[in-house]
Amino acid sequence: MAKLYLTTPLYYVNDKPHIGHAYTTILADVIARHHRIIGNEVFFLTGTDEHGQKVQEAAAKRNVDPKKHVDEYVTRFKELWKRLNISHDDFIRTTETRHTDRVQELLNNLFERDEIYLDEYEGLYSVAEERFVTEKEVEEGDFRQIKKLKEKNYFFRMSKYQNALIQHIENHPEFIKPKSRWNEVLGFLKKPLNDLCISRPKDRLNWGIEIPFDREYVTYVWFDALLNYVTAIGWGTNKVNFAKWWPADYHLMAKDILTTHAVYWPTILMAANISLPKTIFSHGWWLMEESKMSKSLGNVINPIDLIDEYGVDPLRYYLMRDMVLGMDASFTLDRFVQRYNSDLANDFGNLVNRVTMLIRKHFDGKIPKSGDYNETDLKLIAEAKTIPHTVRKLFGDMKIHDAVENTLVLIRKINTYLEIKSPWKSIKDDNSQGGDAATTLALAADVLRIGSQLLNPIMPEKSQSILNILGASSIPLVDTSIGQLKSGVVLGEGKSPFPRIISV
Ligand code: MSP
Repeated sequence: MAKLYLTTPLYYVNDKPHIGHAYTTILADVIARHHRIIGNEVFFLTGTDEHGQKVQEAAAKRNVDPKKHVDEYVTRFKELWKRLNISHDDFIRTTETRHTDRVQELLNNLFERDEIYLDEYEGLYSVAEERFVTEKEVEEGDFRQIKKLKEKNYFFRMSKYQNALIQHIENHPEFIKPKSRWNEVLGFLKKPLNDLCISRPKDRLNWGIEIPFDREYVTYVWFDALLNYVTAIGWGTNKVNFAKWWPADYHLMAKDILTTHAVYWPTILMAANISLPKTIFSHGWWLMEESKMSKSLGNVINPIDLIDEYGVDPLRYYLMRDMVLGMDASFTLDRFVQRYNSDLANDFGNLVNRVTMLIRKHFDGKIPKSGDYNETDLKLIAEAKTIPHTVRKLFGDMKIHDAVENTLVLIRKINTYLEIKSPWKSIKDDNSQGGDAATTLALAADVLRIGSQLLNPIMPEKSQSILNILGASSIPLVDTSIGQLKSGVVLGEGKSPFPRIISV
């Protein structure tokens, strides 16, 4: 049995969770569920990033203590993950002592070893981004609220690790995925890397982890937050657990925070003498029209509205099916409805209804007994044997949209198979056990069972309810071999799984 440790970013607790946050978390959930089904041991971590200027300001605006503010706001994420059926093993908040204590220990340790030093720095500071920026960055990027600032701060010797990092990336093509992002980071590292300012004076910001060797400062949010990936699994406190899970197999995130993960994070780990994660996986953005969905643009879609209206699994399905991992995708309600109606209502849902109705009507609601297979049957059996391997491999390779599409290919093949064999016609002459209609319906139900198992990581609830309807709920999800749905099995109760959406 292999292990898999995967993480989502720690979302800013201040933000109201939207489709973008939901996407990364659902993606992690799908991968976690896939690995659990095939028998791997999984640790899936998510959580919230709770320090920094924006939190301090938001709390002040509401006239509440920042701790109280984050305690209230974190529930929005926790509740959404519950509604989305997210199966995380842990939820870490950067204000928990299991995290803050370790961050302070590391700061002390790095300071003692001269990996951190005090310096006076004069430069351009972006209040919105809460960090110093270079003139070039200001010219190129859209940094807001820039001001000149001269102050003493603590710096991490990030530049010292530039060459080691370049070498690591060059030697490990799997370290940053997809390939285009790997190239991008190496491109970024062609320019000299500055040391990283990791403190903020308390007179500007006090909602942060206090720098243990200088109580006039708090820690820069990014230095604090990234460390969650090791503090959550017991780095510095629980050697056994840490050794079991580290290095992380996947850090998932969108491209907006690739540099912090692919540059800051590995250099911090190098300084702390911790090995590097295996893969940093950066996906694209969900766009609304042409712009990134984000709170500041006010163009966010609230996942709760979609769940209330259409259910959780169709949303999970749409997000996984319509984004090619690594590329941007546009979110539109029209497209969501189209996808739902064509894939789920027409191809999948109608098939479930059709097969189970015929079995109920003509075979007493029990899976009929197959007779000899003809060429058409054997063709479907051959597909049902190969497609699950392809799908599992695609899941393992993080080609989630392809895994979904290939499963739908199998579902559509069952539909074509039924059209060719037309059991609704032949059954009028022969509804015997072992007859052609019986064989057709038994095989269609069995292959449909396989398709439903394969879609389980994407749509856990719907998959389970369809498996119940088919009388297949006791078959282990991992067992997608043909013939597991035996004759005589009684179909279960259940409504039509995907009623058509009539209008938006
Ligand atoms: N707090 C930092 C991360 C610290 S990790 C140690 C942060 N938080 S965030 O709330 O802004 O979350 C950013 C992440 O949310 C993205 O990297 C991505 O995973 C997800 N998304 C937010 N908006 C998104 C889209 N519009 N599209 C896709 N994913 C998006 O950055």
